[in-house]
Amino acid sequence: MRAVDWIDGHIRFIDQTLLPHEERFVDTDDVRVVEDAIRSLAIRGAPAIGVAAAFGVVLAVKGKDSHGPVSIRQRVHEAVKSIGSTRPTAVNLFNALHRMNMIAERNPQASDDRLLQLLEAEAKAIQEEDIRACDRIGELGASLLGNGVSLLTHCNAGALATAGSGTALSVITTAARQGKVVRVFADETRPLLQGSRLTAWELQKAGIPVVLITDGTAASVLREGKVQAVIVGADRIAANGDAANKVGTYPLAVLANRHNVPFYVAAPTSTLDREASDGLAIPIEERTPGEVTHFAGVRVAPEGIGVYAPAFDVTPNELITAIVTEKEIFRQPYAAAIARTLELS
Ligand code: MRU
Repeated sequence: MRAVDWIDGHIRFIDQTLLPHEERFVDTDDVRVVEDAIRSLAIRGAPAIGVAAAFGVVLAVKGKDSHGPVSIRQRVHEAVKSIGSTRPTAVNLFNALHRMNMIAERNPQASDDRLLQLLEAEAKAIQEEDIRACDRIGELGASLLGNGVSLLTHCNAGALATAGSGTALSVITTAARQGKVVRVFADETRPLLQGSRLTAWELQKAGIPVVLITDGTAASVLREGKVQAVIVGADRIAANGDAANKVGTYPLAVLANRHNVPFYVAAPTSTLDREASDGLAIPIEERTPGEVTHFAGVRVAPEGIGVYAPAFDVTPNELITAIVTEKEIFRQPYAAAIARTLELS
């Protein structure tokens, strides 16, 4: 199953808002459908958003009459701007859009047809790099785990969140194939339940024993010694290793630290942000209050209540035991390793 794919000139994605009840794939050649899908979390997870955005740029310029008033290069710039306004935190989105923009900038002489070919090739490269990164992250991350471990994860950093096999869940499925994993505790992940709707669904399909817990239960599970490692994904990692991920990740890191359990972040290098010196520079998306005041469409809070709904939080690097990328496993001090990696890319 591929969460986002490019098939015969159009995008196919699974509508994640419908899972686990319904497995509906959407085929579209309309960039506005892709933008709406990213906004509504039908397509979600940092690497998957980046891949969808890249193909979205191709859709925005494909089949358009280049002799019209708007040139193909202008269309690329407009699409980059428009797709870039969908969600602010996952830097994979902006890294992918930057790469697409550079194709237009660096090929000023290319004909419209040639530029379209180059854009499609770049989007495919972004997709393929992510597929390979997921597998490598799985291998490297699994090497950190001992035999007979139980793990805890938050949100969904699986195949649904990437073009490939996932990040944190790739580590878990790889370790499970190696016979190392006893069970996985999945935080339900309020308010949109990516843990119960998506991670539990993915792990169950993969035949890995999964136990669903409410977010507040994580403390007890850790205190009771039921978990040997916590592993999560990331939406943006600052130059000093501070990592933004789904809200509720930071408290997990504090808890893991309190109970001497390693806390791992698994993410491709496309999640590194060379511009953000630390976590304070990471823009945190705020979602609509309705996602908190309502549960499955039913109001569960009084009318008129004030709501604070950040979608992500930032885990300070000192609480992170290691960051697993496709290139290498980073350890403290993160700044040097991250700078070296960014220099080489
Ligand atoms: O709001 P979401 O569902 O897009 O948030 C996703 C996460 O927080 C994931 O953990 C993160 O993108 C890593 S996915 C490999």
